[in-house]
Amino acid sequence: MNKIPECLIHPVSIKLIRSGHPWITADNFSNRFPRQSEFVIATDDRKRPMALLIHDPYHKNVKARVWSTRFPFEREAQHFTASIQGRLDLAFEKRIQMKELKERENYYLVFGEADQLPGLFVLRLKDRVLIQFYTSFWNRYKSIIQTTIQEVFPEIKDENIWFQLRGETKELQKLPTNAVDAGRRDEFHLSEFGLQYLIRLGSSYDHGIYTDMSSIRHALVKIIQPGSSLLNLYSYTGAYSLWAMKLGASEVVSVDLSPKYIEWLQQNIALNPELEHTQHTAITASVDDALSDLRKNEKTFDVIVCDPPSSSSDGAKRTSAIKTYKELLFKMDRLLNPKGKLIVFLNTHQVTQEKFDRVLKDYLGELKLNYKMSTRLHLGQDCPTLKGFPEGSYLKGIVLEKI
Ligand SMILES: C[S@@+](CC[C@H](N)C(=O)[O-])C[C@H]1O[C@@H](n2cnc3c(N)ncnc32)[C@H](O)[C@@H]1O
Repeated sequence: MNKIPECLIHPVSIKLIRSGHPWITADNFSNRFPRQSEFVIATDDRKRPMALLIHDPYHKNVKARVWSTRFPFEREAQHFTASIQGRLDLAFEKRIQMKELKERENYYLVFGEADQLPGLFVLRLKDRVLIQFYTSFWNRYKSIIQTTIQEVFPEIKDENIWFQLRGETKELQKLPTNAVDAGRRDEFHLSEFGLQYLIRLGSSYDHGIYTDMSSIRHALVKIIQPGSSLLNLYSYTGAYSLWAMKLGASEVVSVDLSPKYIEWLQQNIALNPELEHTQHTAITASVDDALSDLRKNEKTFDVIVCDPPSSSSDGAKRTSAIKTYKELLFKMDRLLNPKGKLIVFLNTHQVTQEKFDRVLKDYLGELKLNYKMSTRLHLGQDCPTLKGFPEGSYLKGIVLEKI
């Protein structure tokens, strides 16, 4: 193995790495890492080596990720392949031990940085596995990752292994492709808490169910009471709608702008004959228009779920979800019955749970709305988070109880 270059990193990165943050973002230091080097040893201002990094010069923002802070780094690099296997095995073992996952056919086997496999996510989807790379660094380790998975889970066949490059930038947003047949489309059903969902691999960027929200869905057992009415805003393929129906909601209304997702939602309902489909109404419209129409028709609900995309564009300008919440709170409140509950989410690492709480509290104060901020909802079980790494804790929610 070639000698690994030692590179000084930005003073802020030095501090962040010391506090457990595993990313080196683009700056005057990281942009100068030798492009052809797979690994880089980060050094501090006194030229002391402090971490072995895996390097991705092609990533727009995250140029390198911490692989190890254990000396000697040359040796850590020599044992890299064995360490990948060891870390994968450990991550799998943790999930095998989790009894909460027994009721789900969709869960994360690996959750990136928090499993010490930076930028690598592995999802179990029934008898398939979807391997997601958030850095193209992992491309050259495809085969070792696949072999390690199949050693632990021999029932997973080659044709059921899928790879996907994901990320915030367009270059990092690819459809999942099958290892054996790159052009394959794969539609199948999987079950979660006794409900069936339609999954599509190979034909769209997202496969039909947000697995990272699964433990949150389960937590709503205590919040959605049988007999209640529920409005699901930004419903996507309807996971919250189906779950509410299963929990005994008497009426569920789902709203999404996308006809494709509303149709998918209808298919999901049809897959579950025990759900009373006449209790469900789908509205293909913007949340803004739907809230106005529902108000005109004097509809009210006991529970409203609101899970907007982290930012949206009207063509002219981008608005972050947190900014839209003031208006959303005002409009949702008018549709909420006394003692009703708003379940509001924010899906971005740029706002911490504390800030989200504070902003909501301020908005409620400005709007003179009386709510108790109750249960906090966040990533759990198969989706661990890391102290000192807010980017990994991107999903946050809170239940607001109308007083
Ligand atoms: C983050 S996903 C919601 C995931 C969903 N809550 C779940 O758990 O499955 C956001 C959804 O919002 C929809 N969407 C985006 N902008 C919208 C708007 N202005 N009005 C209605 N739906 C919108 C998208 O089509 C997408 O399905």
